[in-house]
Amino acid sequence: MLHQDDNILKFDIPEIIFGRGSLSKIGQCAARLGGEKVLVVTDPGIIKAGWIDECLRYLQQERLRYVVYDNVVTNPRDFQVDQGVSLYLKKDCDVIIALGGGSSIDTAKGIAILATNHGTVHEYAGCNLVHHPIPPLICVPTTAGTGADISQFAIFLDIRKKIKMCVLSRVIMPDISLIDPELLTTLSSELIAATGMDTLTHAIEAYISSLSWPMTDPHAIHSIKLVAEHLVTATKTKDLTALEGMAIASLEAGMAFSNAILGAVHALSHPLGGLYDLHHGLVNSVLLPAVLDQNLSHARPKFAYIAQAMGLELRGMRFEEAVLHAPEKVKNLIEDLELPTRLSRLGADAGDIPIMAEMAQDDICMQTNPCSYSTQEIEAMYKEVW
Ligand SMILES: [Fe+2]
Repeated sequence: MLHQDDNILKFDIPEIIFGRGSLSKIGQCAARLGGEKVLVVTDPGIIKAGWIDECLRYLQQERLRYVVYDNVVTNPRDFQVDQGVSLYLKKDCDVIIALGGGSSIDTAKGIAILATNHGTVHEYAGCNLVHHPIPPLICVPTTAGTGADISQFAIFLDIRKKIKMCVLSRVIMPDISLIDPELLTTLSSELIAATGMDTLTHAIEAYISSLSWPMTDPHAIHSIKLVAEHLVTATKTKDLTALEGMAIASLEAGMAFSNAILGAVHALSHPLGGLYDLHHGLVNSVLLPAVLDQNLSHARPKFAYIAQAMGLELRGMRFEEAVLHAPEKVKNLIEDLELPTRLSRLGADAGDIPIMAEMAQDDICMQTNPCSYSTQEIEAMYKEVW
């Protein structure tokens, strides 16, 4: 269970290296962590974009040996973690680099868990069940969305049961997050928009979470402001300054949600990812307005600041009125991004709503939502955007 012990809170983040061209520091980072043989975890798209060749060149410059595991897909599967850890152990690796989106980073975290804790990732699904320290882990995100490079979360798909398993443990916090905004330039516009909406969801859910506190709030609200400023331009023009803004937004949202955790949007989203293998950011984007409408009365003052961060002028407006503008601002952004707004359009089956509502109620992210919901109320939220 997630809970506050006598108001004792924490703020835990990796070392952060940020800036255009910072990928060139990857070899030095791996060597500094004591690496001699690196396992690089990635996906075929990143190889095609040329980033892996560049990364391997920097490893060679530091005389590091390496092996690449590239069988990563969106919504990483449990068996892919098994494949990766076999390679890590067989090749005697001692450092792990994840170069990719959230799927590559989560796969790398799973490999790191099993390298020292053994067994299967299923055994570590839940809160604080990873006990032995993991090998040195460096994450290089190629999307501005998941925050997985900053967080103590990892999500895996149990392919047999078709459910998403959430591992939450401070032990899996990466050692270094190396963020190079230039890596975002090879993303498709669709992915920039969808992962950017994941960032916005992280920031909003962390900001209104029952575990939010003064160390997480400034990052969350600044992330919301950056998304409002940069996401549409980043999506439509791939302007590097806008992409850099989104990289910082993702970083700050990650800093906030890794420590304040998330909420009902992620709880409702995970069953859809598990059952239909849908893109996480896209599903969050569809669910976000419906969940915000329901959460509105449970974190009222903060919703006024969310609306303000998204461009609402608060001067001369009653606070109560400002609160009501937050969902509208989010809906306008989704409209500007031309993202889908109905789950049925993503291929989900309405017959699964009752089972999804039960799964959502049990999801770890529901524990820090500002209020709890009955399964009937959760079903109503799904139906609202079906
Ligand atoms: Fe997310």
